[in-house]
Amino acid sequence: AKAVETLTAKLQTLGINEVPAEPNTYPALNPFDLYRSHVAGLLSKSTGIDSKIVYPALQRTVKTEHGDLQMAAAALRQKRKDMKEFAKEIADGFPESPLIEKVVVMDALVMFWFKSQPLTSLVVPAVLKSGASYGFNNFQGLRDPSDPSKGRKKMIVEFSSPNIAKPFHAGHLRSTIIGGFLANLYDAAGWDVTRMNYLGDWGKQYGVLAIGFDLYGSEEELVKNPIGHLYDVYVKISAVSKEEGDKMKDLKQKIDELKKEDKDASELEKELQQIADNGVDEKARQYFKRMTEGEPVALGIWRRFRDLSIEKYKKTYARLNIRYDDYSGESQVKDESMDHAAKVMEEKKVSENSEGAIIVDLTKYSKKLGKAVVRKKDGTSLYLTRDIAAVSERFEKYKFDKMIYVVASQQDLHLAQLFKILEAMGYKELAAACSHVNFGMVLGMSTRRGTAKFLDDILETVAEKMHDVMRTNQAKYEQVAEPEKTADVLGISAVMVQDMKGKRINNYNFDMDRMTSFEGDTGPYLQYAHARLCSITRKVTAAVPEVTDIDLATAADLTLITESQGIDLVRQLAAWPDIFINTLKTQEPTTVLTYLFKLTHALSSSYDHLQIVGSERETMLARLALYTAARQTLNNGMRILGLSPVERM
Ligand code: ARG
Repeated sequence: AKAVETLTAKLQTLGINEVPAEPNTYPALNPFDLYRSHVAGLLSKSTGIDSKIVYPALQRTVKTEHGDLQMAAAALRQKRKDMKEFAKEIADGFPESPLIEKVVVMDALVMFWFKSQPLTSLVVPAVLKSGASYGFNNFQGLRDPSDPSKGRKKMIVEFSSPNIAKPFHAGHLRSTIIGGFLANLYDAAGWDVTRMNYLGDWGKQYGVLAIGFDLYGSEEELVKNPIGHLYDVYVKISAVSKEEGDKMKDLKQKIDELKKEDKDASELEKELQQIADNGVDEKARQYFKRMTEGEPVALGIWRRFRDLSIEKYKKTYARLNIRYDDYSGESQVKDESMDHAAKVMEEKKVSENSEGAIIVDLTKYSKKLGKAVVRKKDGTSLYLTRDIAAVSERFEKYKFDKMIYVVASQQDLHLAQLFKILEAMGYKELAAACSHVNFGMVLGMSTRRGTAKFLDDILETVAEKMHDVMRTNQAKYEQVAEPEKTADVLGISAVMVQDMKGKRINNYNFDMDRMTSFEGDTGPYLQYAHARLCSITRKVTAAVPEVTDIDLATAADLTLITESQGIDLVRQLAAWPDIFINTLKTQEPTTVLTYLFKLTHALSSSYDHLQIVGSERETMLARLALYTAARQTLNNGMRILGLSPVERM
């Protein structure tokens, strides 16, 4: 409300009496909403076309060379033969406006340029006043945007979800990065977000692990490095289990041969039975059975593995600025929920019996969905069964309006089956509230120690590399207070930015040299841009200490920003709130990242033309206001991505 008042007052000085606002727009939060509404109003008057049609036809341009807004004449949906002619008519009929500099026609495209002075005086103070929330539109998550007392919508973002005692692979890394980003994004959009980690912590393999720990485990190692140690144990015991499996196959073959020749095979049969009864596989099966029956000793050991692993995961996630509200997992899905789901599936004739197993034939909806097993012959549940039951449990617990699964595209089929089964069970709304945000693979991810197994190893290796890069500039390096910590942050930024640079669905190469470079569109480059802006503020305050007491938002005379580079920078700042809204639609980190690189490029072209040190006091204040606004916007964008902006590097 305060922001609307300020905006109204400002617009009145420009001769606009009322804030132009089409429905569902936020002119006080988003300069582009203001300009679109303003232009739509004028166009609607001059052409007689309803502003409901005009408004969506007005698009933010991709390149500032094409102005600020553009509109294809055809988008006005008028029956006209010659669209070029129509575009020209529109431009010629466009009235004088205190906000619009010029209207240019290119073929059938009409392009609008904003007047720079009003834009600067609207945008820069708005950024400075909104500060750490500039660009975030927290009306998006409201149940009713016109009545905040009705509360916020609830969302679950399920992401990372590694498997205990197995490597944290590239798929988990990407899920962690992208999921963290989505959770931040929806948080900033006003949703009530629950961050959930759905651990792979159930199944016969945890019986195998327990048997293995008995043989190869060390209490000391477990406490020191639970994730690594359990993995080592699992690898060892799996090798034994495989050996036994091979041996059994071999024995069976030999027995068959002997029998064919009518020879005595009883010795070999005894040997085979011995393995079948006492081998790892059988022991693990029995052990897991004890777990499923809730036997306290078996469950206790497993719970310890789980708890210690979670403790360790938490530390690693903290390095990435990620915390969870709920460490759930496959083990947490209750038998009752699965039984209930089985009953519903049976009653609704969703499932059928197939040679003792229970399956769902999804081919009647789509060939691609195939047939899914939901209960094995021996009565045990599967990954899919647990997911089906988990949805209802989560709904009971959180009453979510939306749930996002951030999982690799290798599991497209699994999630499509899950959603379709929910629908078939009659849970139409619940199915519609669920969505899968998928992503491609990381190719060639390895560390110096070999193939990357654990997140910590990856982060360690990249941090070391970053530390090496930092040390190549000795003078600068000496000024960094905590070089190791900074190297860690830079390394994490390098990994994350490389991951978020392309569209999610694309595969990419894990390229250590490229991602750690300070040149090109990399994490370290973004961090450098941020640190440079911080250093500008430090220099000015060192030279003119009283600037710290000046409120730049009101005191700076922004009419002093006349250079085209400065104005281009303002135009970029103006776009951020609109980019934010667009990101909610694309759910792509690259939407934010591409914007931040544009912003930093506009910054690097400004430095030579808008110097601060050595300029007149008033000019200095105006430029400082602009750079401070740029730093804030860059900082806000980086935080949405999950990066920790550094002040020195
Ligand atoms: N733990 C699984 C894996 O590593 C990912 C879990 C994805 N989430 C789900 N609800 N199925 O493959």
